[in-house]
Amino acid sequence: MRSLLLCGLGVLALAACNPDDVVHKVGWFSTMRHQRSVKPYARPMAPVDGTVPVTGAEPPVDLNTADRLVNARTRTSESLNHGQFLYETYCQVCHGEGGKGDGPVSALAGGAFPAVRNLTDDAARKRSDGYLYGVIVNAQAMGRGLMPHYGDKVRGLDRWDVVNYVRSLQQKGRP
Ligand code: HEC
Repeated sequence: MRSLLLCGLGVLALAACNPDDVVHKVGWFSTMRHQRSVKPYARPMAPVDGTVPVTGAEPPVDLNTADRLVNARTRTSESLNHGQFLYETYCQVCHGEGGKGDGPVSALAGGAFPAVRNLTDDAARKRSDGYLYGVIVNAQAMGRGLMPHYGDKVRGLDRWDVVNYVRSLQQKGRP
C-alpha cells in the first residue's frame, strides 16, 4: 500500500513537470485532450443537412436546367487566357491540347481513348454554353458519367471562362 502511494506521488511529481505529457494518460483526469473535436488526420465532419455556405448556395445543374443557363462571362481575351490556364490544368490531360480527345491519358491507352469525347466535333459544337457548363460542374448529372466531377475544382465564373476557351478551340478546329 505504501509503495503504491509513493508510486502515485511519483506520478503526480512527474505530472508537475509537464502535465500535458502525463495527465492525459490517467483515465480519471479530464483534460482538453479528450473532447469532441476533429483530430489531426481525422475526416472532417460533414456539415449538417441544409447548411448554406456564407458565400451562398448553388442550385444543382442537370440536363433539365443546364440549357437555360446564360453565359455570365463575355469572351474577352482575359476570359480566354484564364480559361486556357484552367483547361490546361484540368481538362487537357484527357481532352488534349486542341480538344480532340487525344490527351496524354488517351495516348497511354494506345491512341484516341474511345470514351474521352472530342470537344470540337459537330455534336459538341451544337451544345449550348449551359450544357458545357453543366458537364464541368457535374458530368454525372449531365449523363456523362465517365467523366470525373470538376465542380469542386473549377468554381464560380471560372467555369464560364473554360466554356469560352472550349468554344475558341472549336473555332480553331473548324475544318
Ligand atoms: C479524366 C479524363 C477527363 C478529364 C480530366 C476531363 N474530361 Fe471531359 N470527358 C471525359 C469523358 C470520358 C467524357 C465522356 C463521358 C461520357 O460520355 O460518359 C467527357 C465528356 C466531356 C464533355 C461532353 C461532350 C459532349 O459532346 O457531350 C465535355 C463538354 C467535356 N468532357 C468537357 C471537359 C472539360 C471542360 C474538362 C475540364 C474541366 C474535362 N472535360 C475534363 C473525360 C475527361
